[in-house]
Amino acid sequence: MIKILFVLILFILSAKIIIADEGMWIPILLEKYNYEDMKKKGFKLTPEDIYSINKACLKDAIVIFGKGCTGELISDKGLIITNHHCGYSQIQAHSTIDHDYLTDGFWAMSQTEELTNPALTVQFLVRMEDVTAKILKDISDTTSEANRQKIIKKHISELTKMTTEGNHYNVSIKPFYYGNEYYMFIYEEFKDIRLVGAPPSGIGKFGGDTDNWMWPRHTGDFSLFRIYANRKNEPADYAPENVPYKPKKSLQISIKGVKKDDFTFVFGYPGRTAEYLTSFGVEQIYQVKNPHLILIRKKILDIMGEDMKTSNQIRIQYAFKYASFANGWKKWMGENKGLQKLNAIEKKKALEAQFQTWADANEDRKKKYGSLLQQFEKCYKEVVPINLVTDYLNEITSSVDLIEVVRQIYLDLIYTQPTDLQKTITSLKTFVKKTYKDVNINTDKKLFSSLMKMYCENIDSAFKPQIFSNAERKFDGNYNKYTDYIYSESIFANEEKLLKFLDNYKSSSQKKLQKDPAFIHVKDMIDMSIKVGKKVSANVQIENLYRLWIAGLREMQTDKLFYPDANFTLRVTYGKVDNYEPADGVTYNYFTTLDGIIAKDDSLIYDYRVPKKLKELYKQKDFGKYAENGVMKVAFTASNHTTGGNSGSPVLNAEGQLIGVNFDRNWEGTMSDIMYDPSQCRNIAIDIRYALFIIDKFAGAGHLIKEMNIVE
Ligand code: ARG
Ligand code: GLU
Repeated sequence: MIKILFVLILFILSAKIIIADEGMWIPILLEKYNYEDMKKKGFKLTPEDIYSINKACLKDAIVIFGKGCTGELISDKGLIITNHHCGYSQIQAHSTIDHDYLTDGFWAMSQTEELTNPALTVQFLVRMEDVTAKILKDISDTTSEANRQKIIKKHISELTKMTTEGNHYNVSIKPFYYGNEYYMFIYEEFKDIRLVGAPPSGIGKFGGDTDNWMWPRHTGDFSLFRIYANRKNEPADYAPENVPYKPKKSLQISIKGVKKDDFTFVFGYPGRTAEYLTSFGVEQIYQVKNPHLILIRKKILDIMGEDMKTSNQIRIQYAFKYASFANGWKKWMGENKGLQKLNAIEKKKALEAQFQTWADANEDRKKKYGSLLQQFEKCYKEVVPINLVTDYLNEITSSVDLIEVVRQIYLDLIYTQPTDLQKTITSLKTFVKKTYKDVNINTDKKLFSSLMKMYCENIDSAFKPQIFSNAERKFDGNYNKYTDYIYSESIFANEEKLLKFLDNYKSSSQKKLQKDPAFIHVKDMIDMSIKVGKKVSANVQIENLYRLWIAGLREMQTDKLFYPDANFTLRVTYGKVDNYEPADGVTYNYFTTLDGIIAKDDSLIYDYRVPKKLKELYKQKDFGKYAENGVMKVAFTASNHTTGGNSGSPVLNAEGQLIGVNFDRNWEGTMSDIMYDPSQCRNIAIDIRYALFIIDKFAGAGHLIKEMNIVE
């Protein structure tokens, strides 16, 4: 009987529908849900080859790189490849006007030349586990929300403590499907990570922000780092005597090439998606959040961009900031276009109508789900204007460095009483120096006054910090004058004075702070954000509603296989190498070539300056073994469902060999974080052969190629 039931369950499970190429799947559930489908599409390995705790497997070659990217091991000497834009802040940090590694690239010709990067870490996933039963123990449908959260918190902290006892691992327990399930992730973190190689921006960032999020693409977006460990091959803080880490597994690299329709999969850390948003959630993004953020970012970029053109120093100082602000700005524009083209809101509404009918058709369901959509509507009405205030405040804080510095000092010295004052002061001084190294005070001033003006123009006056109104009155609504006043009077605008002040800081110094105009300004902003924060209980309520919403959807659509939204945990996504038609009558080929780079060459535009050496190699057709019939391929597109965080992820072939490094998505497909369209959504990867060609022929770093395991 049990056997029959088992077979029946298996049948039901395998009968679930997987929508073409959509989905970011949980590695430990591949066998159960995806393996059959993957095999049908060409996958040649087994789920055990991808994830296993009994043997070395592909997961042992994948790392979280820094705070938001993926990287992978490509040699048994701890060599990792990730994107150029993932190592960008490190490359910038090592760059000066004399050693401009951003513009010229950097290659360590031996291990002794590799550069250390304080604060950069990589993390390996040791194992993961479904801990739903442990976390949701003692919780039932009748448990109140407050109690539920309390119980969950307690279980998470107990389990974390138990799992970390007696080892050096980090544990993270995260909700999946909005808290319907929980998974635990155990990581091993390495802290001595050195820069090995980065191509010049004319390769690694070729096309810059103009080509960003676009196909056809010609960016050689990769960089190389190396993990160092102590003599026992264990994680250790930086020490000159550390040795290259010997990984359990490193990837084979295939230079056999990439053809249309080839099976591919991407293994990495997608950051955040919201595939199960209601129409109200999509409306918030499409109608309010994205349009405002696009405007704010445009302003920020105009100001930074203009000043960056005036001096090399400012260009280097703002390179990373500019790229990050530009990235979001362009993504949201693409996202809105895509949502519009897909008619996303209408589609969501249709699903909601179906849900309502389904819920109303049965008494139990009606009780559980009948009023769910109404509640969503009510909560969203409440939070939309408040969330906009938060968005504005966040944008201001993250772009105006003066504000960020005041905020940090306020939070560390006054908002929380430091337990060890001297330690706090030391770390604040480091923070101030690090921040101001990359600040041009005039640029900062322009950002301050323009963004404050935007805030006052676009945000309901009920949410205007008092100081904004005072300043308007005092300076006749002239934000420039107010800004001049702040930047000339405040000690925060003068690094030297500020550091001296911190050096001599004692509790009585607080009085001086309270009178500082920048301090007063920022404190008012923080008070506003706290006030707004208190109002967001409706946001918490929305999260809880989503838990019910997704539980209901899974009950209603029993034939559909649901994947959890991305939450920066390890996932597998699979698809095929493919082209697409972005518009009526237009087809985009699935690969680009070095010929395309040469065609874009323009010495007058920073983003399109092809390095001389690359042009020479092209002219001589000196491509080594990396070309295909004399053509050097550069990048390709495939239908893997990826998102931010997947940058640097390996793109693997059916045998699990590295064929590319993921670095972007196409403009027409950026709405895939909210709604995936198999005909339009493509991930963009650098063809690994192009990276090898650059390392070998362009940089002359053949010693690195020798470390790798290349399959021809
Ligand atoms: N769009 C890619 C990603 O989302 C690359 C970003 C870095 N490149 C740039 N030009 N800003 O992160
Ligand atoms: N460039 C993105 C990243 O940094 C990946 C592109 C995407 O969002 O798909 O993670």
